[in-house]
Amino acid sequence: MPPLTAADLSHDRDFARDLDAHDELAQFRGRFSLPLKRPDDIYFVGNSLGPMPHLARTFVLEELEDWAHLGVAGHMNSRRPWFYHHENLRGSLARLVGAHEHEVVAMNSLTTNIHLLLTTFYRPQLAGPGARTKLLIEKGAFPSDTYAVMTHVAARGLDPEQHVVEIAPRAGEWTIRPEDLDARIAELGDTLALALLPGVQYRTGQAFDIARHTRAVHAVGARCGWDLAHAAGNLALKLHDSNADFAVWCSYKYLNSGPGAVAGAFIHERHVRDVTLPRHAGWWGNDPKTRFRMEERFVPVQHADAWSLSNPPILAVAPLIASLAEFDAAGIERLRAKSVRMTALLEFLLRGSSGDGGDLEILTPTASHARGAQLSLYFAKNARARYEAFLAAGLACDYREPGIVRLAPAPLFNTFDEVWRAAAIVRESVR
Ligand SMILES: Cc1ncc(COP(=O)(O)O)c(C=O)c1O
Repeated sequence: MPPLTAADLSHDRDFARDLDAHDELAQFRGRFSLPLKRPDDIYFVGNSLGPMPHLARTFVLEELEDWAHLGVAGHMNSRRPWFYHHENLRGSLARLVGAHEHEVVAMNSLTTNIHLLLTTFYRPQLAGPGARTKLLIEKGAFPSDTYAVMTHVAARGLDPEQHVVEIAPRAGEWTIRPEDLDARIAELGDTLALALLPGVQYRTGQAFDIARHTRAVHAVGARCGWDLAHAAGNLALKLHDSNADFAVWCSYKYLNSGPGAVAGAFIHERHVRDVTLPRHAGWWGNDPKTRFRMEERFVPVQHADAWSLSNPPILAVAPLIASLAEFDAAGIERLRAKSVRMTALLEFLLRGSSGDGGDLEILTPTASHARGAQLSLYFAKNARARYEAFLAAGLACDYREPGIVRLAPAPLFNTFDEVWRAAAIVRESVR
């Protein structure tokens, strides 16, 4: 599916309907429970909580049945034996984020995984002329990331005010210019220990070039980790090739795996092979060949699993297996191609209505490589009232201070006609 060019686009509703009629992914919509009160309601908030795949209910009920009927024997004899449960996810997760199977693991929650991987990859060198202690994040990062970074640095006995550095957009701008990020990294030079950057910024929808900025961080001898909460299941990631040291994401947004779903992590294979790395360990990270010998010393498996601590929560993993099956069937490249088209159409219909510089400002970059599915709209006046009017009109979206409404058409379950109708609702409010 090639991207839509300006010449292709049209304000006509039939144009959107025609895109739906030729959409090779259209059948996936019927595989989700969409939380719509009225048939014409629009769910554009899959960037916050993705809807439930029908298969999730089936898989959770199957696990409950197996638990009821098999008890402890379910570890080896259930339909998806619990002992190997997390292994069921590897292939799909690896395909989803562009990694090898031994580089990915589903575990914990996102913020927990940030702490676990900071333990391994934030290695401040304190003494001497080669002191290298700085941890770079973006100003205005999702608060949990900032809290994690600040408290993690403090827990290492360092002053976060001194060792955590933030990069902000230029005054009067919403998004960070990629060249400014690279320049800041170069300026920090050999004082930089680690950068933790967003794959897609949650408030503005700006996507960052993971390979490019990882290269810039490596060029100064530091390590680079990525928070992909808004990128996993949204962009066609190539994590292995990007050379990122690590990445973490949650599974309840674009990955549709349910509230508080089990999160994911990527650790590049060059680190996976290094059994000497410092880490917090638990028995599930031990080599499974010797795990049940119950020995006194930890032997990390040469796999991203080496960072997992506990046996996985089977009931919580079941929806993730279900959702990843849908991603496998649709294919992330095809999903991304549809997503690029949907967001391009939404932007075209909104820009055409408000006039640039009018009441509505679109904060998200225009280039498709610099954004994912989401468009962030800024209203200088009455933003919250507008947002409430959108909800009342049946457009489920969300609101973030200061005055930002986020709309995210998701290619797995949204339609082009919904894009057209959502734009009509927004246009109405602008008028
Ligand atoms: C970018 C980002 N980081 C961190 C979090 C926190 O995630 P969790 O509650 O799963 O740790 C979120 C949640 O929405 C997020 O969007």
